[in-house]
Amino acid sequence: MKRNILITGGAGFIGSHVVRLFVNKYPDCRIVNLDKLTYAGNLENLKDIEGKANYTFVKADIADLDTIRRVFQEYRIDGVIHLAAESHVDRSIKDPFCFAHTNVMGTLSLLQAAKEYWESCPERYEGKLFYHISTDEVYGALELTDPEGIESPFATAASSSEHHLAFGSEFFLETTKYNPHSPYSASKAASDHFVRAYHDTYGMPTLVTNCSNNYGPYQFPEKLIPLFINNIRHGKPLPVYGKGENVRDWLFVEDHARAIDLIFHKGKVADTYNIGGFNEWKNIDLIKVVIRTVDRLLGNPEGHSERLITYVTDRPGHDMRYAIDSRKLQRELGWEPSLQFEEGIEKTVRWYLDHQDWMDHITSGAYENYYNDMYAGR
Ligand code: NAD
Ligand code: DAU
Repeated sequence: MKRNILITGGAGFIGSHVVRLFVNKYPDCRIVNLDKLTYAGNLENLKDIEGKANYTFVKADIADLDTIRRVFQEYRIDGVIHLAAESHVDRSIKDPFCFAHTNVMGTLSLLQAAKEYWESCPERYEGKLFYHISTDEVYGALELTDPEGIESPFATAASSSEHHLAFGSEFFLETTKYNPHSPYSASKAASDHFVRAYHDTYGMPTLVTNCSNNYGPYQFPEKLIPLFINNIRHGKPLPVYGKGENVRDWLFVEDHARAIDLIFHKGKVADTYNIGGFNEWKNIDLIKVVIRTVDRLLGNPEGHSERLITYVTDRPGHDMRYAIDSRKLQRELGWEPSLQFEEGIEKTVRWYLDHQDWMDHITSGAYENYYNDMYAGR
């Protein structure tokens, strides 16, 4: 049983769900959330658990090796769940260096600090784990061989009840060759390789998972779903890249967090698991579902906000289709997503509409004061 767990990037979208799950589910473990609080880090995401006795927050950059070394020693870290990253593809196109700093050098610093600390322990690597959270984007892009979609061969509980479509016959497997295209996915691929290299070279117990697009509460409103919910609410244009025909495979964030918990405790060291819900959507169709849901919940006539759809210049190098085959995780560890897409979208839209203050604090920048107000001087 790992007692002192370091979760990096815990103030971000997925990280905050993982921190919340672990703090509540494992009261006997110390959960150390280490986050630099970049623009994407928001401690308001964790208001409900910040007073818990088994929770500690450390503000630090994962690339600051000396600080990370001290954190491993001070908290006697025996397990790492590494989520901290620059995560937005569009930003990586504008500033790739920042992505190399955090995703590559940051991951390397974390690996090195873990290695040094664990090698200094009497039991060395016994009972330790460095679990790296990665993305399906490292595999590159799949072709849209069936533009209208065919019946999905592997529908799960997370698939839409409205359509069980696959837009091609190929899926990303754990054995699919890496072929990243954006600076973001290139930096994540590099970090995945470093993680595996620390296992293969030094014998460090590592594990990597590659997940599809997550959606749900607490996602920074630069990403498609929260951006569009907020824009619909304010009657602002919805910028659809290209023709809106790119396909993404969507998974509710709490189902990802549950998979992370399961894999952290039961996953095979040195292995890789793909995580996804077999829930493919063309962007434009997904956007119409979001519009329909927001309009209904706001009491607008059906289709009212479709007029906001605005086709804009495509993202450079925009990957056409991602589709994860997660059957290995289902087969070997028994993971099943719990929430069907329609329920997940309803829950997500309701959450953003009910938490307008959370959104407003981000758009006004007020969320950046939260750390100083709550933690400075502690
Ligand atoms: P996010 O952008 O919402 O959060 C990232 C967090 O990392 C923020 O809290 C930020 O402050 C922190 N951070 C950034 N640079 C840091 C640094 N140098 N040192 C310490 N902390 C730093 O990201 P997310 O969407 O929650 O993604 C989390 C992880 O999951 C990432 O590794 C991402 O690649 C991966 N992932 C995301 C998705 C998705 O759909 N969002 C899907 C698959 C994998
Ligand atoms: O696949 C996993 C990845 O999913 C994660 O690794 C990334 O961290 C995460 O950001 C996400 O990447 P995407 O680029 O797929 O997510 P994003 O929300 O930025 O875009 C989803 C799709 O919608 C994509 O095809 C681009 C399109 N899009 C996005 C935005 C922000 C638009 O058409 N308009 C937009 O304004």
